[in-house]
Amino acid sequence: MRFNTIEWKNNSIRILDQRELPLKEIYLEIRTVKKLANSIKRLSIRGAPAIGIAAGYGVALSSFNSKSLEIKKAKIRILNDIEILRKTRPTAVNLFWALERMKEIVDEYKGREAKRLHHILFKEAKKIHKEDKELCRRIGKNGAQLIPSKANIMTHCNAGALATGGWGTALGVIYAAKKMRKTIHVYIGETRPLLQGARLTTWELWKNDVPVTLVVDSARATLLKEGRIDLIIVGADRIASNGDVANKIGTYPLALIAKRHRVDFYVAAPSTTFDLSIKSGAEIPIEERDEEEVKSFSRIITTPDSINVFNPAFDVTPNELITGIITEKGVLRKPFKKSIKRYINPNNVKTTE
Ligand code: MRU
Repeated sequence: MRFNTIEWKNNSIRILDQRELPLKEIYLEIRTVKKLANSIKRLSIRGAPAIGIAAGYGVALSSFNSKSLEIKKAKIRILNDIEILRKTRPTAVNLFWALERMKEIVDEYKGREAKRLHHILFKEAKKIHKEDKELCRRIGKNGAQLIPSKANIMTHCNAGALATGGWGTALGVIYAAKKMRKTIHVYIGETRPLLQGARLTTWELWKNDVPVTLVVDSARATLLKEGRIDLIIVGADRIASNGDVANKIGTYPLALIAKRHRVDFYVAAPSTTFDLSIKSGAEIPIEERDEEEVKSFSRIITTPDSINVFNPAFDVTPNELITGIITEKGVLRKPFKKSIKRYINPNNVKTTE
């Protein structure tokens, strides 16, 4: 990749500020958990796996800033910072998964040195990042087998390198297919209101020499009706035990039109995006964001001031609309309840090492 979405550098978290893309490539140097929480809320860093990685580094940062404290005080501060991070965005389960993984280490640490605790937490955060890279690689490999030698693929939002620790989930499949010398053309909807499709996916694909065509979200049905799309692959923020999928708002209508026009609809996601504690998508908390995001376009007000706005950031696609879920373990098929139970264990994610 010709950019670095997130990394630990000079005892700080360095992130590519995605709010500024594609016009400016600016990196933020984050030295406090408060600033990190803000960056997650504002979507400077975004995408379920990347949010999980940021949370891991956030706990490492908290422990770095507590190194000189007495262990009891250091632990209190770190646990408090974990709670701050927990309250940033409610839908992507990777956030909670990563925080739990880090919290367990804090809870179980019996030593007396805060410096040593930081060392262990930092190592774990690095591991989460490295594991995600490997998960993306395997998802790409498994998904690429589904792609015909010449394909027009539609995706939604951004589920690429900008959203993960590797080359992405949905876009990872596309990169892997390209690596296998398949001829790929990507269609992407703008992804209103924050334009992750128009601003981020087009930029990322352009940087990686993948041909891409941008359409307004409402033109997607026309493309499908005209038979111009071979298959659809999207990412996920949380997948329930029955295979219902929460992803960026606009995913559900895309799945509905795919069904209507008999186009395969795939979801690509790692084990860390599954939430086996919930039975169905009805239990997934859906983030509602500020009305200003809808009432303006590129910071220019486009509506009367007093109108009501409903601005959910995600929707839930019912499992029956999904052809398959591409994971690092393979492509899960229906009945999802059974295949998820058999193959997914988010607590057991390991790299090939
Ligand atoms: O609000 P965002 O930009 O964080 O939403 C991101 C998505 O919906 C992605 O599709 C999802 O997180 C998967 S990223 C591999």
